[in-house]
This record gives sequence, C-alpha cells and structure tokens, in this order.
Amino acid sequence: MEEQKIFSMPRIGDKAPEFKAVTTQGEVNFPSDYSGSWVILFSHPADFTPVCTSEFMTFASMEDKFAQANCKLIGLSVDGLYSHIAWLRTIKEKIEYKGMKNVEVNFPLIEDITMNVAKKYGMIMEGESNTKAVRAVFVVDPAGIIRTIIYYPLSLGRNFDELYRVVLALQTADEFKVATPADWRPGDDVIISPAGSCGTAKDRMDGKEEGLDCKDWFFCTKKLDKNTVLDRILKK
Ligand code: BEZ
Repeated sequence: MEEQKIFSMPRIGDKAPEFKAVTTQGEVNFPSDYSGSWVILFSHPADFTPVCTSEFMTFASMEDKFAQANCKLIGLSVDGLYSHIAWLRTIKEKIEYKGMKNVEVNFPLIEDITMNVAKKYGMIMEGESNTKAVRAVFVVDPAGIIRTIIYYPLSLGRNFDELYRVVLALQTADEFKVATPADWRPGDDVIISPAGSCGTAKDRMDGKEEGLDCKDWFFCTKKLDKNTVLDRILKK
C-alpha cells in the first residue's frame, strides 16, 4: 500500500482544525481561544533565518494595526520554544532593519517540533522542504472558519500590507454584503452581487437601482466611503 502522505490541508470555508500548543506566550487552544476575534495563523520555515526575521519585524510592527481590526496574530515554526525565545530576544536586542529596531514580538509563536500542527494545516510541502514549514497564512474569522489561505515558498517574504488588506476586505464583505474587486482598498468602489435576489438585471441596467454603476448586467459597482468602512471595522 502506498505510504500515507504526511499532509492534510484544510480548505477555505472549513472549521479551523483544533490543536493545543505551547507558545512563547503560554499554552494556546486554537481556535477556541480566539473566538470572537479574527486571527492570522502563519508559519515560517525556521528561527534565525533572514527572510523570517524581516517578516517577524514587519508583522510585529503592524500588530496594533491588526488589533484595531480585531485581528490577532499567531506564528508557528517547527523549532523548539528555547530557539523561539532566543531568536525573538536577538531580534529585539540586535537587529535593525528598514528603520525598525527594538522590535518586540508580543504575539505567540508556537513550538511545533513534532510537526503535529504543521501537518494538520498542510504547512509541510515535501517538494519545498520536508523539515521546514513553508510560509503559510490562514485567516480565520471570529466563528473559527478559515476564510483565506495563502502559501509562499521559502525564499519569498510575504507582503504584510496585503495581509492587512485581506482582513479589511473580508470584514467589509461580511459587514456590507458586497464583494471587493481587484486591488480593492477602503474607499474604492465595491461590487454588488449579481441581480436576482433583489431587482432584475434590466432594472439595474436601466439605472432604476439607485447608486449603482453597471458596466453590464453582471458587473455592478457602488460607492462605499472609506470612513464608513473604517468606522464600522476598526475599534476606536
Ligand atoms: C529565510 O527565512 O531566510 C529562509 C528560511 C528557509 C529557507 C530559505 C530562507
């Protein structure tokens, strides 16, 4: 019989697989400890590596921004707790990068020497490495449902502005029952769902539905003011 693959991979729309883990901030019960918050669970290949260091400094510098959007962060690598602690201390005490210095990583970093969590979340991709997690990102909503999954290879550092955009866009879609077009940012027009549930395509094309800009029957946008979006989403 073919050897069982070490990977399983949750999908968008699935309940986030549960796990208990030791982290740099104590034990975590995922996702139940995060109930009511958005959370980004992300993996990195290894402590004491340069791309990962640049990522942690960037993400940690943006932690307050994510917190204002009710989004917490939790990292993981298949290193042990003492390695995590030593690496984060080195970052704070010694590393200066792109104007960032004395960066304290206050979000939890999971130790996963057994690779239990990494395997559950499909973070080990043999073609890339069977001893390191790839750069995976799981955006989980307040109900514990996986809403976005992004994977990057070992050599490619993530774009954290994009991750912030993803969180705002998902929340905007939920709050305003809209979709967000390519490269959307708060203040840009949003897309309304295709005709059918309310109004007809003809009404839309004839301009009978107020505030819509229809390029064709299937593609209508409307304005959604930046402050309206941010007032609804960001904590005061
Ligand atoms: C890095 O973070 O620099 C890195 C980690 C694993 C493989 C390649 C690069």
